[in-house]
Amino acid sequence: MPSPRLALLFALLPMLMNTADARKKGFIYEESEVPAYTLPDPLAADDGSAVTTASQWKESRRAEILNHFEQSVYGRRPGKPEALEFTVTSEDENALGGLARRKQLSVLFEGGGRPFAVHVLLYIPNSANGPAPVFIGYNFNGNHSIHADPGIDLSKSWMRKNDNGNANHRATESARGAGSSRWPVETILKRGYAVATAYYGDVEPDHANGWKDGIRSYYETDAQGHALKRENWSAITAWSWALSRIVDYFETDSDIDAERVALLGHSRLGKTSLWAGATDERFAIIISNNSGCGGAALSRRSFGETVKQINTSFPHWFNSSFKAFNGNEGALPVDQHELIALLAPRPVYVASAVEDEWADPNGEFLSAKAASPVYELFGKKGVGVDMQPPIDSPVGDFIGYHVRSGGHAVTDFDWAQYLDFADRHLK
Ligand code: GCU
Repeated sequence: MPSPRLALLFALLPMLMNTADARKKGFIYEESEVPAYTLPDPLAADDGSAVTTASQWKESRRAEILNHFEQSVYGRRPGKPEALEFTVTSEDENALGGLARRKQLSVLFEGGGRPFAVHVLLYIPNSANGPAPVFIGYNFNGNHSIHADPGIDLSKSWMRKNDNGNANHRATESARGAGSSRWPVETILKRGYAVATAYYGDVEPDHANGWKDGIRSYYETDAQGHALKRENWSAITAWSWALSRIVDYFETDSDIDAERVALLGHSRLGKTSLWAGATDERFAIIISNNSGCGGAALSRRSFGETVKQINTSFPHWFNSSFKAFNGNEGALPVDQHELIALLAPRPVYVASAVEDEWADPNGEFLSAKAASPVYELFGKKGVGVDMQPPIDSPVGDFIGYHVRSGGHAVTDFDWAQYLDFADRHLK
């Protein structure tokens, strides 16, 4: 038995660790120290002319911005593979005590003549009396990590960290449900939504040489047939491309309403979700949870993580051209508010956490706000406020926003907002 003091320390440890989104040295964390910057105007075309109508946006301006992100930030992507197959590997009508049907399936495709598989876990509410809307999000540690359900296949893929039940970079039985605090599966199902997830590492292992084992080593041409070297795209583009392949599957599954797909991602996977939503308009709602630098947060605003830092720690996340903007963000042809604008007029939710300073909560808000004029072209209201709202006070209509108390995580509070947001826009 540990001493009472030690027991108290153990009890407090998770709390202490949570609040310790510690400040890394050498970065800006004070509003007053943020250098002045000017954002590019999403409604000024590359030739300087003003974009004043939704049709101008759709017909020309959107493509200009998308092209800038492809060239300068995330890279290009291949088209839909010709040989794309879906194999349901297991099905249980009575999962989670009868609440849902559980399907596990593989999305199989070929690239350069090599076979490839992404494994998807899908729960469909048994209460559904028609095709169900679905929340889809990648997980960080394998499908088995989102819920303790023993019927979920244990991932055999490489895992980045040896924690949460992973050892020697592989999952063990004790990894089951290790990430379940981020996935209130029953709550989502009871609200009438299906839940789908896949492990992002199935697509490309998340490290600098991960492309060798991922789909970036498979394809040599982009959707237009142009040469595509691995540095012309990026891990984020590979991950987002595979999300589109899962939507391809949804389109074949009559239990799922493929027109009501809400895509959620946390942190690096939030960056991925925003880019997936920009490159594939089939995502009906996009949710960025604490996505920070290279996600919702403005690159020109130097607060917390910077472009130089992210390109140094995670060179594989972005294409090679993005490195040219290290310390030179003002030269970027776009900024991240324009990534959000690419989602217009679809509903998007940007969520920050007040202690997650690394992700620049106010920079995420300002970005959501600066995307709002594009939504207004479509007659839709964006965040609807000028200043970052108080903690735990969600705002916005077609662009939802909140900054919640606590640190870098996905919490029940976040999910409560996402479910309400989806009810409002999808039901
Ligand atoms: C690091 C990285 C962030 C990223 C985060 C995550 O902190 O610097 O940009 O969002 O990891 O994905 O958890």
